[in-house]
Amino acid sequence: MDHNIQEELVKQVANQVRKLNNLQEKNIKHQVDQIYTQLESFFWLQRSLKLQGNLPPLRGWPVSPDFLLLLHRWITKHKPKVIVETGSGASTLVIADALRQNNQGKLFSFEHLEKYGNQTWQTLVDENLTGWVDLRVGELVDWQHDHLNPVDAEKKSRWYLRDFEGIQQIELLVVDGPPGGTCKYARYPAVPALHGRMSAGAEVWMDDANRQDEIDVCERWAELYGFDLEFIPLEKGLACLKRAKQEVSASTLPVAASVDTNTYSDYDEWHLGLDFSLPEDRQTS
Ligand SMILES: C[S@@+](CC[C@H](N)C(=O)[O-])C[C@H]1O[C@@H](n2cnc3c(N)ncnc32)[C@H](O)[C@@H]1O
Repeated sequence: MDHNIQEELVKQVANQVRKLNNLQEKNIKHQVDQIYTQLESFFWLQRSLKLQGNLPPLRGWPVSPDFLLLLHRWITKHKPKVIVETGSGASTLVIADALRQNNQGKLFSFEHLEKYGNQTWQTLVDENLTGWVDLRVGELVDWQHDHLNPVDAEKKSRWYLRDFEGIQQIELLVVDGPPGGTCKYARYPAVPALHGRMSAGAEVWMDDANRQDEIDVCERWAELYGFDLEFIPLEKGLACLKRAKQEVSASTLPVAASVDTNTYSDYDEWHLGLDFSLPEDRQTS
C-alpha cells in the first residue's frame, strides 16, 4: 500500500478512536451526574419525609427520587385538598406523607394490579397513613371514549374502572399508569376521564415524559383541554400541565394551548440543578 495512503488511514482511525473516547467519556460523565443527582434528591427527600420505615426501592418501575422530591415539595407548598394518581407505589407513600404534614387533603390512588395494590396498602398501614389515601384497586376495563390508540389497534384501549365517587375539585393529577404494555398511549384516558372533576387551577404531572408516547399524550391534552405544557428535565422526564385559571367549559373545547418545551418558569431551581434548601430555611414570599 502506498505510504501516504497508509499514513492517512492511520490518522483517520486515530481520529475516530479519539471521537469515540470523547463520546464515551461524555456518556459516563452524564451517567455519573445522573446517579449523583438521584442520590442527592434521595438524601433531601429523606430529610423532608416523616416516615418510620424506608421507601420501596426506587429503581426500575417506580418514580425517581428527583420526581418524588419535587412532588413532596409541591404538595407541602401548595397544600392541595384533592390529589389523584394513576399507578400506586412509592409515590403513594410520599404523597400521603406530605398530606399528613399539611394536616389536610386526600389522595385517590388508582391501581390495576392487586399484588401492587396490597403492597402499597401495607406500606401505608405500616406508616399509619391509611387515613390520607383512598386506594381503588381494580382490573383495567375497556375504554371506548376519545383515545390516541386507534380503535382497530392490536391491543385494545383499556383503563381503570371509572369509579370516581367522592372525587371533585382535583388540584393535582399524577399520571404514572397504566403501564405502556397495556396498549399504546396507555395513559391517555386520564385527562379525558377526569378533566371535568378538576379545579380551575389544577395541574397534571406526567412521569416518564422522556418517552415519545407520553410526549404525544401530553401535547394532545394541552391542545384539547387548554393546558400550558412544560417539560421539566428530571431523570425520566416530567411533563407539567397547568390549567389556565378560568374554567374550561365543554363548549370552548378544543382550545389552542401554548406548548413550551424550553421554559422552566416555576421550576428555575431545576434548570441548572436542584434547590436543596429545607422548607424551614426558605424565605416565604
Ligand atoms: C410506573 S408503575 C407506578 C409506580 C408508582 N407511581 C410508584 O411511584 O412506585 C405503574 C404500574 O406498574 C405496576 N408495577 C409496579 N411495580 C412493578 C414491578 N416491579 N413490576 C411490574 N409491574 C409493576 C403497578 O401496577 C403500577 O401501578
